[in-house]
Amino acid sequence: ISDVREDIDHELISREDIQTKINDVAAQVSVDYADKDPVFLAVLKGAVNTMAVFSQAVSIPAQIEFMTLSSYGAGTASSGQIKVIQDVRCDVKGRNILIVEDIIDSGYTLDWLVRELKSRGAASVEVFALLEKPARRVVDVDVKYKGFTIPDEFVVGFGLDYDEKYRNLDSIAVLKPEVYEGE
Ligand code: PRP
Ligand code: MN
Ligand code: MG
Repeated sequence: ISDVREDIDHELISREDIQTKINDVAAQVSVDYADKDPVFLAVLKGAVNTMAVFSQAVSIPAQIEFMTLSSYGAGTASSGQIKVIQDVRCDVKGRNILIVEDIIDSGYTLDWLVRELKSRGAASVEVFALLEKPARRVVDVDVKYKGFTIPDEFVVGFGLDYDEKYRNLDSIAVLKPEVYEGE
């Protein structure tokens, strides 16, 4: 019987620490967005778990939307080309948008999305990124709500994948080097 945890070298952030951090951000967002009728917009697929946990921890009414973007393909480095796999299903014009992301790495994905939403006439666009990897930043993006700053290691779990696997790990972890050997 194979187990997704067999490929893990070490855990970086536990499920409990993720929950605590998301609760803190959700409490702040509940204050900042009270009476703003916000739209929480998750970037699939990576942000699926962050959105699920975050939205339950927020106490104010909010609309939940999704957009599927892809830039990584099968590798461990961003291509810089953002592909819209599935667009958001609501009109963002005049709305206060909070983007929910799992990680900001090069910054290409968020830079593109923030510009796109503003060009569609959003009233405001802010970002919550659970993870941030400053060593890999190419484009500067203003992230209002930050989770964890992590070292320059390729991480998986809690929505983050390597070659579409490991998203279903419940914590954030570093894979054994042999898993991406030959890339
Ligand atoms: C990953 C991650 C972020 C983005 C961050 O998505 O979930 O969305 O890359 O990297 P960047 O700052 O260098 O743009 P990916 O393109 O792998 O798609 P996925 O969410 O479906 O895994
Ligand atoms: Mn993503
Ligand atoms: Mg990915």
